[in-house]
Amino acid sequence: MSARKAAIIGGGVIGGGWAARFLLNGWDVAVFDPDPAAERMLAQVLENARAALPALSDLPMPDAGKLTLAPSIAEAVDGAEFIQESTPERLELKHRVLAEVQATAPDTPIGSSTSGYKPSQLQQNARTPGAILVTHPFNPVYLLPLVEVVPSPANNGAIVEKVSALLRGIGMVPLHVRKEIDAHIADRFLEAVWREALWLVRDGVATTEEIDEAIRLGFGLRWAQMGLFETFRIAGGEAGMRHFLAQFGPCLSLPWTRLTDVPPYDDALVELIAGQSDAQSGAHGIRDLERIRDSNLVGILRALKARDWGAGRVLAAQDAARAATAPVDGPVWHGTVLPGWTDAEGALLPLPLLGVASEAAQAALRRRGIDAPLVPVETRMTRHASAARGAPLSATVDGADAGTPPLTLRVAIDSAETRVAEVTLRLDPSDADPQPQRSE
Ligand SMILES: NC(=O)c1ccc[n+]([C@@H]2O[C@H](COP(=O)([O-])OP(=O)(O)OC[C@H]3O[C@@H](n4cnc5c(N)ncnc54)[C@H](O)[C@@H]3O)[C@@H](O)[C@H]2O)c1
Repeated sequence: MSARKAAIIGGGVIGGGWAARFLLNGWDVAVFDPDPAAERMLAQVLENARAALPALSDLPMPDAGKLTLAPSIAEAVDGAEFIQESTPERLELKHRVLAEVQATAPDTPIGSSTSGYKPSQLQQNARTPGAILVTHPFNPVYLLPLVEVVPSPANNGAIVEKVSALLRGIGMVPLHVRKEIDAHIADRFLEAVWREALWLVRDGVATTEEIDEAIRLGFGLRWAQMGLFETFRIAGGEAGMRHFLAQFGPCLSLPWTRLTDVPPYDDALVELIAGQSDAQSGAHGIRDLERIRDSNLVGILRALKARDWGAGRVLAAQDAARAATAPVDGPVWHGTVLPGWTDAEGALLPLPLLGVASEAAQAALRRRGIDAPLVPVETRMTRHASAARGAPLSATVDGADAGTPPLTLRVAIDSAETRVAEVTLRLDPSDADPQPQRSE
């Protein structure tokens, strides 16, 4: 059976991320981008995605699809089931591109990545307005699950459902924006925070670095797992949201924000912000920053998956769906060598390998329906070879089908064709309901 095909028009930061997400979820992808550098940039995004996306899943991803660079829009969209437009944020350009797409594929659903335009603006003068809607993703598209799906009154419910279903199939969570509005939902917050931050830098209150510290050391961590309202509910103490509102509601009339003003956008502001940003982050190249971002995101997402919470709940559900169809034999764990897993000489460290073995053992037990709490009472590891940061890893488990515990599991960890390590874990049933020991 041939793979499903997606066409990506515009292969920059966002189009490249879409291409990677579709490809690694088994779709064939054709990209059209007139920039001669597009192929090189696409390859870089794909390299990052291959090192990060499979590390979110404990089960084999589908076989990756085939990538082609199409010489024209007509060839890119030919035979595509879905078209994602990711060209620069200029309405007249998007209109030209959408008209060219619909000259070849008038009825194929087209999602636009636009950050700001409403679907009804994109649909103006279109041949088939009802086939165009907004599907707004978040960077990096291959890791973050959210996609805002914004229809206009010209779109019927069937196309919204069809597009949402195929986006779910590539691991995304469509948030149906029920009323079209400039900049949809999430970018309204980003714009609010951005404006406030520009004022703080311009007024000399904080530097770009201090603003980033204020976010990433504090509320950014809360937002990543609970969002805004659930976080503030807890901040209200036992009385919850009502107490929070009683405490902070009156502040709404205090001058706590400059949101109603827009800082003048001039050369001085650009120099101030860009200069501080260079001083803060210029020591890293953009590709390095992308890799640091991706491995941090993988760590956060995996932590949330272990807790079946927020974005991690999406990943847990995806693993469960894959487990239902995955063969009982073969690798039970797939991932990559993450930063921090190697020593100064580049050799793989034993403790991360032990972590891989534990996760693989747990996945193998789950696959065989064993969910009794088991305690590792003996662990042995033999390391055979190393693997570099970013290299693929997979783990196969033997012994999980031996019946009732105690069990001896042999975990083989490989990188491509090379055996990296073998770990033997002897697991005993845990003490039922252990009582805390008091020491006299
Ligand atoms: N960067 C973000 O964080 C982000 C997030 C969500 C959505 N978006 C939206 O995604 C869209 C693309 O943004 P980006 O950040 O990827 O921009 P980008 O500049 O990185 O990429 C745009 C790509 O489109 C190509 N292009 C230009 N004219 C074209 C044409 N006629 N046909 C096909 N390709 C053409 C360019 O060569 C470039 O590679 C915009 O609408 C933007 O609002 C951006």
